[in-house]
Amino acid sequence: LDTASPLASDFGPFAGRVWLNAAHQGPLPQVAVDAAGEALRWKVAPHRLKDDLFSAVPRRLRERLGRLLDAPPDQIVLGNSTSYGLHLLANGIPLRPGDEVLLVAGDFPATNLPWIGLNRRGVATRQISPAGSVLGADELREQLTPATRVFCTSWVNSFTGHAIDPEALGAVCRANDTWFVLNGTQGIGALPLSLAEQPVDAVVGCGFKWLCGPYGTGFCWMRPSLLAGLEYNQAYWLVAQGDELELGRETKRRGPSPRDARSYDVFGTANFLNFVPWTAALDYLLKYGIEEVAAHDQTLVERLIDGLDQSTYRLVSPRDGGQRSQLVVVSHRDPARNAGVLLQLERAGIDAALRDGNVRFSPHLYNGAADIDRALEVLAAQA
Ligand SMILES: Cc1ncc(COP(=O)(O)O)c(C=O)c1O
Repeated sequence: LDTASPLASDFGPFAGRVWLNAAHQGPLPQVAVDAAGEALRWKVAPHRLKDDLFSAVPRRLRERLGRLLDAPPDQIVLGNSTSYGLHLLANGIPLRPGDEVLLVAGDFPATNLPWIGLNRRGVATRQISPAGSVLGADELREQLTPATRVFCTSWVNSFTGHAIDPEALGAVCRANDTWFVLNGTQGIGALPLSLAEQPVDAVVGCGFKWLCGPYGTGFCWMRPSLLAGLEYNQAYWLVAQGDELELGRETKRRGPSPRDARSYDVFGTANFLNFVPWTAALDYLLKYGIEEVAAHDQTLVERLIDGLDQSTYRLVSPRDGGQRSQLVVVSHRDPARNAGVLLQLERAGIDAALRDGNVRFSPHLYNGAADIDRALEVLAAQA
């Protein structure tokens, strides 16, 4: 991808504004808008919604997600959010009174809340407070006990932009026989992840941020050994039909067994209004490849960090190294002015976010160097 002439024309139009907030919502590329239009026409005149089109919706989406994550498609559960996958795991992994789930203090609420809800069943949760900005492998090792059944963390912290090292933390979990659950929401689509190579047991994510899909989309992947032990009653009639819709009173159960990831798809798994455009957005990203997208995003991150007036702004996110992500978080030296800085950015046509009192920028593939320079100009004017 070319920094000077980005893929902006495949997105928007943004009415002259600069969207630096993919960590909140990724915009739909035009190909996905077109696909959404087609899906809408199926619903306007349902004779167009042929059975084979309907059945293909989840199959095609699962295949694209498999390619994205380097995982077999039949191991992927289709969901409507990150929270869907996290609840499936928290409610489905057999956890008994006395078992413990380890979390990271200050993690995004979506990551921690589903596990904390298990307290009422006698499952304990404990939140580790990292000494530095990010939890290290040694710190995790010290905290694991024989009762620790699950460790769950976000890959990229939404508030600080720091990325944990999934490989190092996963190896520590494996040595302790602890399931490692990763919330990949703020990384997947902007940082490469190969599940075939990582010691991760489950990954959840949403489709509407870095994957540029519609809102109300998400997924969950589980290692087969984790899936096989899930204790969760779900028997969705449509999934039980298999691919050929021969609807009758008797469920022929040609479809997946309860050990098949599809069994846990969100109800409405052929949700064509959302899943058809999401599939098109994934095709668009996969055409470039996530390595390419990541390289482009990192060029923009680098430009933003290099151009930051360090006498006025403190960089909250990492300057460089493996903990750096595509989230750049800054604070004015007078943090009380951060809300005003965001307002000035907005007035100048630049959309960023205020998170935990700091200003967060999250550029993605439709942004270019000129967008970053426009943001830097406004920041400089706020000294
Ligand atoms: C780390 C993280 N997880 C999850 C979410 C969203 O969760 P859900 O898809 O359940 O709304 C966000 C959104 O900001 C996030 O930053």
